[in-house]
Amino acid sequence: MIPVRPGMFVFPCFATKHEAPTLQEEMSYFVTGTDTGVGKTLISCALLHAFAAQGKRVAGMKPVAAGCDEDGQNEDVKQLRAASNILASLGQINPYSFLQPVAPHIAARNAGVRIDLARILNSYRELASQSDVVIVEGVGGFCVPLNDTQDSADLALQLGRPVIMVVGMRLGCINHALLTALAISDCGLKCAGWVANVVDEGMPALQENIEALERRVGAPLLGVVPYQEQPDVRAVAAQLNLALLAEGSDGISPDTHD
Ligand SMILES: Nc1ncnc2c1ncn2[C@@H]1O[C@H](COP(=O)(O)OP(=O)(O)OP(=O)(O)O)[C@@H](O)[C@H]1O
Ligand SMILES: [Mg+2]
Repeated sequence: MIPVRPGMFVFPCFATKHEAPTLQEEMSYFVTGTDTGVGKTLISCALLHAFAAQGKRVAGMKPVAAGCDEDGQNEDVKQLRAASNILASLGQINPYSFLQPVAPHIAARNAGVRIDLARILNSYRELASQSDVVIVEGVGGFCVPLNDTQDSADLALQLGRPVIMVVGMRLGCINHALLTALAISDCGLKCAGWVANVVDEGMPALQENIEALERRVGAPLLGVVPYQEQPDVRAVAAQLNLALLAEGSDGISPDTHD
């Protein structure tokens, strides 16, 4: 963060409120999380499942993946592809994939690649042209760098879609969630909703933490997903109230429109 004046900070996303969004498709969302490993893929797949159950054509997208299995494929990409119900190429679903499970700008640099947001936008447009709903899973948290000058927030802003925030319910999540919500609004994007995903089975004061976030996040709680030994996408989908998303169908905050 860059201090502006005492008590006030600007997040180091290079996105500004003056960059107009170019895409206005309905019902597509950018899924971010309070950290890596908080359930973005699980919730993204559950959202795809829930929209598909409404008869929608759905596509999952992982613009940047870092870390591959022995078969050379990324697990998130496999899951998002399996949860999609349109035919899409791997290049459309996952424009950038790196072997190393490290921060994306480092993985890209080590591979001799610069992540180009224009290429990601093209893939998104192709998916969006064949789908009713595209669920775009971010990489890591909201401010993760993608190259030397742009980060995940810039990508979200260029996509111009509302953001769904997955909060991994564990100690420290209130701070992480409020910082993430602040970064989303600071970039001029709307948080369409958030999901309380219980990743710590024995989290003390779980309900109090959820209530504290409900009072402060400023976006609807779409659902509380309990801890599951073997997470099941259908069971997770049943916990999500998609009707609440309608309140945030426009990705850009009202005060940022010209
Ligand atoms: N509610 C839950 N109960 C139990 N396990 C969960 C729950 N949610 C997620 N997990 C498990 O936590 C792990 C991380 O989840 P997931 O891969 O969805 O996170 P992510 O935020 O997408 O991670 P990444 O940053 O690597 O993309 C997975 O093994 C997943 O099965
Ligand atoms: Mg994931």
